[in-house]
Amino acid sequence: MGEILKAFVTGSPIRHSRSPLIHNYWLRKYGLQGSYEAIETVPSDFTDFVRGMRSNGYVGGNVTLPHKEVVFLLSEKHDAAAEEIGAVNTLWFEDGVLWGGNTDAQGFLANLDSAIPGWDQRKTALVLGAGGASRAVVYGLKQRGFGAIRVVNRTVERAQDLADRFGRGVSAHDWQAVPDLLHDSTLLVNTTSLGMEGKDELAMDLSGVDRRTLVTDVVYIPLETPLLKASREYGLSTVDGLGMLLHQAVPAFERWFGIRPEVTPELRELILADM
Ligand code: ATR
Repeated sequence: MGEILKAFVTGSPIRHSRSPLIHNYWLRKYGLQGSYEAIETVPSDFTDFVRGMRSNGYVGGNVTLPHKEVVFLLSEKHDAAAEEIGAVNTLWFEDGVLWGGNTDAQGFLANLDSAIPGWDQRKTALVLGAGGASRAVVYGLKQRGFGAIRVVNRTVERAQDLADRFGRGVSAHDWQAVPDLLHDSTLLVNTTSLGMEGKDELAMDLSGVDRRTLVTDVVYIPLETPLLKASREYGLSTVDGLGMLLHQAVPAFERWFGIRPEVTPELRELILADM
């Protein structure tokens, strides 16, 4: 029997993470000798946890709240996505060096690619929110050649920081600008926590929206958010956010375990059954 490859997701609180379900499903499916476990770490333990990763036999892991900033500093090298987005969600070793990467943009793009091939012929986007998820979405859209990305945020300064970070083609706006911006945006992305179970609804007046607009949400609980429901009833194409969660796990699994796994309907069902 070969060596068991071990990976983790760590953060606090961590018990709600769906990542163990996803990675353990793939480990079983591909018959790999591996494990993926959820490990609770509070900020005062986190640095030691990362320094001890290798001696504890881990090939890598995912890192989530509240360690997103510290993990960026602790990783010795960053992939281009982590560098541009300014956040790390995946760790791995390469030639003894601890790398930090960000797989959210790939997850966002792959979700849309698999749901609506050719979706990226659209080139004008309206992105709601300016946090970490928004930075990943904007980075992904720039990679696909979107020429106008309008970022709307309650705190406009945050949207402006994001626009400054990404430069040409990215602009910052307040919510009052949304009706105007909807006229000539053909992709609408919600990256705020609005619409999530237990949070305020995302109330939007869709009148005047371009009929070709594709609407997607990074929120996936509930699967059909109020925004997606209203958009669907309006006759717009919609893509839910669960696929982003599943697809962002693909490149991480491949780095640790050496196989590029497939996002299957069965995996989707498995996660839905747990919600
Ligand atoms: P993440 O890293 O997941 O993107 P975040 O950095 O906490 O999370 O960002 C949350 C986003 O949701 C922000 O754009 C936030 O707006 P502010 O920057 O103004 O705080 C947005 N958001 C959360 N609650 C909101 C609300 N009630 N109304 C409007 N925007 C809200």
